[in-house]
Amino acid sequence: MSIIHNVLTGDRPTGPLHLGHYAGSLRTRLALQEVHRQTLLIADLQALTDNAGRPAHVAANVMEVALDYLAVGIDPERTNIALQSQLPALADLAMLYLNLVTVARLERNPTVKAEIELRGFARDIPAGFLCYPISQAADITAFRATLVPVGDDQVPMIEQTNEIVRRVNRLAGCAVLPECEALLSHTPRLPGVDGRKASKSAGNAIALGATADEIARAVQAMYTDPGHLRASDPGRVEGNVVFAYLDAFDPNQAAVAELKARYRHGGLGDVVLKRRLTDLLEHLIAPIRARRSALATDLEYVRSIVEAGTDIARDISDGTARDVRHQAFALDAIDVGSSALLRQVSS
Ligand code: TRP
Repeated sequence: MSIIHNVLTGDRPTGPLHLGHYAGSLRTRLALQEVHRQTLLIADLQALTDNAGRPAHVAANVMEVALDYLAVGIDPERTNIALQSQLPALADLAMLYLNLVTVARLERNPTVKAEIELRGFARDIPAGFLCYPISQAADITAFRATLVPVGDDQVPMIEQTNEIVRRVNRLAGCAVLPECEALLSHTPRLPGVDGRKASKSAGNAIALGATADEIARAVQAMYTDPGHLRASDPGRVEGNVVFAYLDAFDPNQAAVAELKARYRHGGLGDVVLKRRLTDLLEHLIAPIRARRSALATDLEYVRSIVEAGTDIARDISDGTARDVRHQAFALDAIDVGSSALLRQVSS
């Protein structure tokens, strides 16, 4: 019999999700919800760690992400969708974990290091940003997650979470929290249309709600091989964005292998490839787009799903925080402090 995992993963609501999310994680989550207990966290608190000046932007994108989840087929009967900021236990746990991690360790976290550079924080790193791995450890452990589907850039987060788990368990003298494991996607990171890292802010990604026209224009603009001028010239497959997308989404991978061979050899034009990709992406996105726009006319329903999921998540996370407070940190509602005080008063 196979193991049933607690699966936890999340997204920062800084914009609608795009095809990169679909290839790298949403597809995996659709499969996971068939077997495991899954929670998806809309990580609005984490989004504030690098968007503190844009709270309205983060707030506005919470519903966009929820819409994307439901539109791709995340089933609220199987997957719990919860809003991070409405779970006080997460802040509680993060506060406790802060005592178990050194600043030096946080500064060594490769993901944080890379992101500090990317965002140009240099010396002016918001403390909340530096500490977001701790908050993420709180997310993961609050649900006693054992499986965390993430991109390879998030592996250091899992390692750091497990270090915290071991410290908590050592303090408690028992296994209050389980260690977790990263589930890495097999698809390599999907590049942006221009060949650089795909991101919502760079505007080089294809949104899950993209219109047929937007898809066609994005594929038209895709970076291929600048040295491949005529169809008869040999072309490069590596770094060619069209092939990266065909690798990720073409159901006929044998045909893709053949196309690659012909492209390398010479005799296959970009136009043919781009035509194939446009059709394929339209086929993939059309039903998602349709569900997304139908759901967008009933935001009350979407809100009710997130609310119900958050209520369930609140119970679970409260329970874990209670255990950690009590077992690892000797924090109890009626504690020794007050009884010692009572003894003093009565003597
Ligand atoms: N850090 C993740 C990202 O930027 C989002 C996230 C928040 C997350 N909490 C999480 C991922 C917990 C996995 C587990 O995409």
